[in-house]
Amino acid sequence: MSDDDIVLEISGLEVGYSTNRGEVKAVSGLDLAVRRGEILGIAGESGSGKSTLAVALLRLLKPPGKVTAGSAIFRPRGRSPVDLLKVEGEELRVLRWSALSYLPQGSMSSLNPVMRIGDQFRDVILEHAPDRKNTLSELIPRLLAQVGLEPDVARMYPHELSGGMKQRVLMAICVALEPDLVIADEPTTALDVTIQRVILQSLVDLQRDFGVTLVVISHDMGVHAQLVDRVAVMYEGKLVEVGDVRQVYKQPQHEYTRQLIESIPRLGRRAS
Ligand SMILES: Nc1ncnc2c1ncn2[C@@H]1O[C@H](COP(=O)(O)OP(=O)(O)OP(=O)(O)O)[C@@H](O)[C@H]1O
Ligand SMILES: [Mg+2]
Repeated sequence: MSDDDIVLEISGLEVGYSTNRGEVKAVSGLDLAVRRGEILGIAGESGSGKSTLAVALLRLLKPPGKVTAGSAIFRPRGRSPVDLLKVEGEELRVLRWSALSYLPQGSMSSLNPVMRIGDQFRDVILEHAPDRKNTLSELIPRLLAQVGLEPDVARMYPHELSGGMKQRVLMAICVALEPDLVIADEPTTALDVTIQRVILQSLVDLQRDFGVTLVVISHDMGVHAQLVDRVAVMYEGKLVEVGDVRQVYKQPQHEYTRQLIESIPRLGRRAS
């Protein structure tokens, strides 16, 4: 596989939080290559370091968190490769949304409550791609339709939307500028099961229609089973297993992965 096929290559990543009980290693010695065009799942129980990995890559890690080692080489199309852990200022601002976008955990509350949805699209698009100003009236309804929402949603305020609709709006904003890579942290958590299915389908459609690479973080192995091509399993900050999702389900290499798979509730199987 050539460099061109790898959109993000993480090597030796170490992230810690210094607490009054000493340093907590949240991510340690993590190596992971994300292939261009794939849907990669990141699995692992609560506290295994999944969100820490995402915020470190997005450069949104706040103190007491600190990246202490590693690199994350990002290769957006048409631009030179950059180490996400080193880019600063304007270079980082330019990459955000247009090359790399992020749906944070608990993101439904991140929409601005006093701004209409259409204006929130407009803000992101104009800030990062001002040349698209004249296309907005066509682009916003098209993006909404892409996630199964009516054009009228653009005139609404966040409080007029259900949780699932808000999540779909955020997903559409994430792909608005056709980034190379979207990282979505727990995109279906806190939504009920039928809405979860709609969101997962929208993610698959977006990945296919926009040709983006998608990294989906979820503690729910059922989500990975339905959505991803490959899955990476984290345990206590380390990557314990990466592979084709069907292969991992069929023959987990790690005892912890087996336990995670066992924890998926199945229809017709009584919870004990
Ligand atoms: N601000 C912080 N200060 C200290 N420790 C933290 C902080 N944020 C996270 N941690 C610790 O880092 C580890 C990883 O947390 P992280 O939120 O990345 O896990 P996660 O896999 O995303 O969990 P979840 O599935 O609950 O979202 C945990 O042990 C957590 O307690
Ligand atoms: Mg998390």
